[in-house]
Amino acid sequence: MNGARADSPHLALLSLALFSLFLAPSLAQTCQSYAFSGNRVYASCVDLPVLSSYLHWNYNDTSYVADIAFRVTGATSSNWVSWAINPSGLQMVGSQALVAYQNSSGSVWAYTSPVDSLQTSLSPGTLSFGVSNISAALESSEMTIFATLQLSSGMTTVNQVWQVGPVENGSPGTHPTSGANVESVGTLNFLSGTTGGTGGSGSSRQRRRNVHGVLNAVSWGTLMPMGALIARYLKVFQSADPAWFYLHISCQASAYAVGVAGWATGLKLGSESSANNKVHGNIGLALSVLGTVQGFALLLRPKKDHKYRLYWNMYHHTVGYTVIVLSIVNVFKGLDILDPEQKWRTAYIAIVASLGASAAVLEAITWYIVIKRKKAASSAPKISHSTNGDDGYRNGRV
Ligand SMILES: *[C@@H]1O[C@H](CO)[C@@H](O)[C@H](O)[C@H]1NC(C)=O
Ligand SMILES: *[C@@H]1O[C@H](CO)[C@@H](O)[C@H](O)[C@H]1NC(C)=O
Ligand SMILES: *[C@@H]1O[C@H](CO)[C@@H](O)[C@H](O)[C@H]1NC(C)=O
Repeated sequence: MNGARADSPHLALLSLALFSLFLAPSLAQTCQSYAFSGNRVYASCVDLPVLSSYLHWNYNDTSYVADIAFRVTGATSSNWVSWAINPSGLQMVGSQALVAYQNSSGSVWAYTSPVDSLQTSLSPGTLSFGVSNISAALESSEMTIFATLQLSSGMTTVNQVWQVGPVENGSPGTHPTSGANVESVGTLNFLSGTTGGTGGSGSSRQRRRNVHGVLNAVSWGTLMPMGALIARYLKVFQSADPAWFYLHISCQASAYAVGVAGWATGLKLGSESSANNKVHGNIGLALSVLGTVQGFALLLRPKKDHKYRLYWNMYHHTVGYTVIVLSIVNVFKGLDILDPEQKWRTAYIAIVASLGASAAVLEAITWYIVIKRKKAASSAPKISHSTNGDDGYRNGRV
């Protein structure tokens, strides 16, 4: 078991790889780095996949009010731009549109227009939901529409359609009917920031939510229980001593490092969220505290033969198992909040099930070995003590 010490840099590298894989792209988002003038701040945004367009918004999931800003870069005074919700499908007809262009008077005009046919001239009209405070601006080749939408409870996920076309004789002309101009449609979830349909890179907030989920499911939800399995079942093999101890420490230390990063991403997400995820957040806080305490307790660990070592072991196991149970519970709570595709939940259930199955098999093997050893010990001199950790198994204590 010379490989034990070599495993810890491997685990550190793995954590680093996970970090760069999931965190780096989320930092490179373009809509996220955009700052609006005039005290406008939006919690969520998405880089729309075509037409150099971006949607920024604040969504109140109590009042169903969405405060949006739709931005098109590279737009000029001879362009009209539009962003719409289409309750009737992923298509143009039926779109409840916000439209803006610079009209003949030179000012940028923003208004609402229900699209009832493919031959629409985008004339003003009222939409099927309330729109207030609609305005638009054209600055440094960027046209932006601002509006406050009063949606209803069933409109957390909507079909969105966006478009850019030419202004002809002072009014909106027909947009190109190929390429990007017919791909500018998809779904949008105001709460999670998920986009779908014809593509969409997923919002930066959604990506951060995914990063948070992966970091924590891997660290708290998988590595921590694995490290506990290593400690409990590897130390029964005399040849694995003290390798099990270093493996256990490397596993828990990596899990803790990644887990604390995961917790930090959760703090940020929690502070931005209006949703009520108190239990998930509190369990996360408890885990970080218990994990830290567990790390520091290692420094206070009495020597193996010390009379207080038994109490330390009891403490260490109690906190350890509490962390594992809370971790798994919280991963499932997080899955409920994140609500990803079923395959992710299935994957984590499979991980927990295989950890559980491994524990059951190893428990049986351990008992078999311990009982065999006890029999051997009763007809032979006492077996020498291990150099590390509690050697409970060898004394028949499990
Ligand atoms: C959301 O709307 C409700 C009801 O109008 C209001 O009480 C609450 O303060 C709003 N939340 C935010 C974060 O603006
Ligand atoms: C030009 O825009 C203003 C608002 O800025 C609007 O009231 C007016 O009707 C528009 N004129 C035309 C001809 O579209
Ligand atoms: C619309 O804008 C005005 C002034 O900027 C503001 O007082 C008002 O609260 C806004 N209304 C909504 C529904 O956002």
